[in-house]
Amino acid sequence: MDDTTKFTPDLARYEALMDVVRNRLTTRAFRPDIAVPREHIEMVLEAARHAPSGANAQPWHYIVVTDAGVKKKIAEYFVAEASKRARMKMKFPTPNYRGLETAPGFIVVVADFRFVRAFPVLLDGSDLDRQYQANAERILLQSVAASTMSAHLAAAALGYQVWWVTAIGQDDAQKSLRPLLGVPEDLAIIDIMLFGVPAKPPYKRWKKTLPQIMSWDKFDMKNFMTVDEIDDWVRETRHKVMYRDEAKVD
Ligand SMILES: Cc1cc2nc3c(=O)[nH]c(=O)nc-3n(C[C@H](O)[C@H](O)[C@H](O)COP(=O)(O)O)c2cc1C
Repeated sequence: MDDTTKFTPDLARYEALMDVVRNRLTTRAFRPDIAVPREHIEMVLEAARHAPSGANAQPWHYIVVTDAGVKKKIAEYFVAEASKRARMKMKFPTPNYRGLETAPGFIVVVADFRFVRAFPVLLDGSDLDRQYQANAERILLQSVAASTMSAHLAAAALGYQVWWVTAIGQDDAQKSLRPLLGVPEDLAIIDIMLFGVPAKPPYKRWKKTLPQIMSWDKFDMKNFMTVDEIDDWVRETRHKVMYRDEAKVD
């Protein structure tokens, strides 16, 4: 083998990354008395900035909320949205969104969906165009998620814990949250990223095993679930894996 074919994996660097990846643990209440300095916010968003995106469009923007009054109003929106869902009998195990206002690191994730035009679309209003547009929307969402995830990992690398909150109840969320943050109507608030020092010790949630999530060469049908099996999972297991330490999931 000549020198050009040699490759030495950097296992120490991999392990350092995996330490961050494994120990990013969702936390839903923070110590409001331990501030996150602006420098750390910028370090976190510096990671977001380097993310990959379809067509390198970078269709994201991050609004850092520092005003306690605005944090409280956003928390109130989510608390109200959660009770609305409960009234509709959605049966989704909802966390206490009051925790939002405790987060010293509070970043609103904004997506510019007009950038679907940067991806392969026809823009002629045809049925085929609708399919391409749906695909373009997926590209856009994945791009924003890639950037957001980089930010979450950077916050975890600094030693904070994180919370990913979806701006659910789309139209209402936009109407309630946009004016608080001066977000133009053309843009969409899609997530909130919270981080800080956890109020209680965080815990590791259940994760599927590697053989459950991967196949070599062909999809391994032993990992295929029918809709009935998924419904069973939602009924019997979901609530356990959302709010419990993996060691305590039976
Ligand atoms: C796209 C996405 C949306 C999420 N939305 C919410 C949310 O709206 N509210 C919430 O409390 N947690 C939300 N989470 C956090 C998940 O519940 C959490 O990641 C999951 O239970 C696994 O726990 P872990 O992050 O500790 O591994 C979201 C996570 C992701 C990736």
